[in-house]
Amino acid sequence: MSKVLVTGGAGYIGSHTVVELLNRGDEVVIIDNFSNSNKDVLDSIRKITGKDFKFYEIDYLDKDKVEKVFEENEIDSVINFAGFKAVGESVEKPLEYYHNNIGGAVILLEVMKKYNVKKFVFSSSATVYGDPEIIPITEECKIGGTTNPYGTTKLFIEQILQDLYVSDNTWDICILRYFNPVGAHESGLIGEDPKGKPNNLMPYITKVAAGILPELSVFGNDYDTKDGTGVRDYIHVVDLAKGHLLALDKLDKENKGIFIYNLGTGNGYSVLEMIEAFKKVNNVDVPYKIVERRPGDIATCYSDPSKAEKELGFKTTKTLEDMCRDGWNYQKNKM
Ligand code: UD1
Repeated sequence: MSKVLVTGGAGYIGSHTVVELLNRGDEVVIIDNFSNSNKDVLDSIRKITGKDFKFYEIDYLDKDKVEKVFEENEIDSVINFAGFKAVGESVEKPLEYYHNNIGGAVILLEVMKKYNVKKFVFSSSATVYGDPEIIPITEECKIGGTTNPYGTTKLFIEQILQDLYVSDNTWDICILRYFNPVGAHESGLIGEDPKGKPNNLMPYITKVAAGILPELSVFGNDYDTKDGTGVRDYIHVVDLAKGHLLALDKLDKENKGIFIYNLGTGNGYSVLEMIEAFKKVNNVDVPYKIVERRPGDIATCYSDPSKAEKELGFKTTKTLEDMCRDGWNYQKNKM
């Protein structure tokens, strides 16, 4: 049993990962400032797992308070989910994004170093591949050419982690490049609940199906894809959460190393396929119209997940139907 510090543990992917950690018997300490999450999530985690955890309402930019967490708890490892993640907003507020995401990660690493805690799992993104050279994307593909400050914060933090490891190879670091996380816990108690108008496809579809938003805009149908709409690798958030546990196991088993894994399913679905699947599985209507392409979007992005399978034993089990059903179940629960 180990004690894991989870930053951003009340957020979308963080909360699902905390559930899996508690379910397998790990001890969890969460820090979160609720900048894009809700206090109720903490109770939902307790309800789902029947277990408790320590919680600190702090901002990870507040170094003194982060240090206090390390003073008060014997932390073994850290998973860093905290960070701003809205692509469009990052274009408007680049300094806020660099300050928060990079500043927060650096502060966390400084405090970890001081307390000699050197196991770190980082939430990166397929966005670091920019417009990918080859599909499916392997970890060896060139990174860079990010199209927005959000993506660039992920790229820079990956570089910081590489530099840190070069300076001191007693760190054990795992960089996880997520593809498109969707869906929710099957209980319907936790899920993705973006504040304001959603930027991403699945939360937008659910809000349209619920009648909260009038219709979905499909950003372009003239891409070089099966039906002209963008193709992505959607992964159920519970499968993704489990990947973090395997990453921690890897860092426990093999001392010293910095590892990078794609976390995706290896399947690509188009926007129209997502809409159709959602309608069929949930028996709801999702009105949509085709509009202009969204700047910065690429045609196709899906993973080659074989490295994570081979080295971590990572294998997704949830289907597209599960993603659509669980996402809708969470939305209905909130209404
Ligand atoms: C986006 C970000 C990525 C981030 C990820 C998760 C960009 C360029 N990339 O990925 O950096 O890690 O979210 O937060 O923004 N779509 C519509 N209508 C909508 C919304 C989306 O047609 O209202 C389409 C998009 O054009 C795309 C697909 O749906 O083809 C998926 O979009 P989205 O969910 O925003 O994810 P990404 O753009 O893949």
